[in-house]
Amino acid sequence: MTIRAVVEGVGQYLPERIVPNAWFEEFLDTSDEWIRTRSGIERRHFAAEGENTSDMAVHAARAALAQAGLGVDDIDGILVATSTPDMTFPSVATMVQSDLGMTHGFAFDVQAVCAGFIYALANANALIVSGQAKRLLIIGAETFSRILDWEDRATCVLFGDGAGALVLGAAEGEGTKDDRGILSVDLNSDGRYRDLLYVDGGVSSTGSAGKVRMKGNALFRQAVEKLTSTAESALSAAGLKDDDINWIVPHQANIRIIAGTAKKLGVPMSRVIVTVQEHGNTSAASIPLALAEGVAQGKIKRGDLIISEAIGGGLAWGAVVLRW
Ligand code: UT7
Repeated sequence: MTIRAVVEGVGQYLPERIVPNAWFEEFLDTSDEWIRTRSGIERRHFAAEGENTSDMAVHAARAALAQAGLGVDDIDGILVATSTPDMTFPSVATMVQSDLGMTHGFAFDVQAVCAGFIYALANANALIVSGQAKRLLIIGAETFSRILDWEDRATCVLFGDGAGALVLGAAEGEGTKDDRGILSVDLNSDGRYRDLLYVDGGVSSTGSAGKVRMKGNALFRQAVEKLTSTAESALSAAGLKDDDINWIVPHQANIRIIAGTAKKLGVPMSRVIVTVQEHGNTSAASIPLALAEGVAQGKIKRGDLIISEAIGGGLAWGAVVLRW
């Protein structure tokens, strides 16, 4: 018998305010056409004033619990992937814990920028497989709008806000690739690339939050190659091949990166969940948001083999193979 971490519910939250590309034309030398053709983004959601990362995380968590038919008493712990916490500390996860009315268990944040949800899933999987937890809430939540430089057209048009959540529970499997749940994980980072995507502030350096800085073109060149190799590694660790994939649910940074990676993996775009046009790049929230959309649209079904991959600041990147 093998313990597997199986998805029991998925939920999402997007802030009410939708901002189309044309909005940026009012104050920047940019165009809807440039943003669409270079990134695939058409619009994004921005959090309202006073609406913080933890607020969005709580909405997504409630939706995931509702879909699973579970309450907070059924949950042993909460992991939140975010690079835009409400405060330096306490963690967003402990805020979510108290907002949900949960007074037991544990909660902590995971910071791996756009790869954060993959890293959080890897941690959650390890906690469940080792028997330390039976059921966990894993949330990706970001308010990147708060760390954007509105004068930098190369970054501010790309990001959006939102949150997505999964409930993962322990289930008995056969130890084969046909099991439901997380089948393999591949994590990587290389800090030599840290100047490709970073925030130019922080607690121990400037004492301020800082703004996003990105060498988009150099990062783009790294992205397709590293996403393809991490996906191949995760598939091979699970004893699976490209052909076995029902859905790629990728980090949503750029449609050209998504399409380039799918092509290298030999998966047609009809089997890729794409939300970048609606959400922009929501960093650690993009994968759970895309999973929630895939389920809501009736595409992702029980038993489907899914691969999720992401890359972001660090660089940090990775992939998870799971059967829904
Ligand atoms: O989630 C974390 C991972 N993130 C990523 O992986 C992002 C990776 N990078 C990208 O998605 C793309 O590199 C971008 C969408 C950021 C940019 O696309 P690109 O095709 O790499 O464009 P570029 O940076 O090479 O810029 C091309 C031109 C430049 O002008 P010149 O130097 O050719 O005259 C830029 O100044 O486009 C210009 N430009 C813009 N023009 C209109 C840059 N931003 C804009 C803009 N509107 N918003």
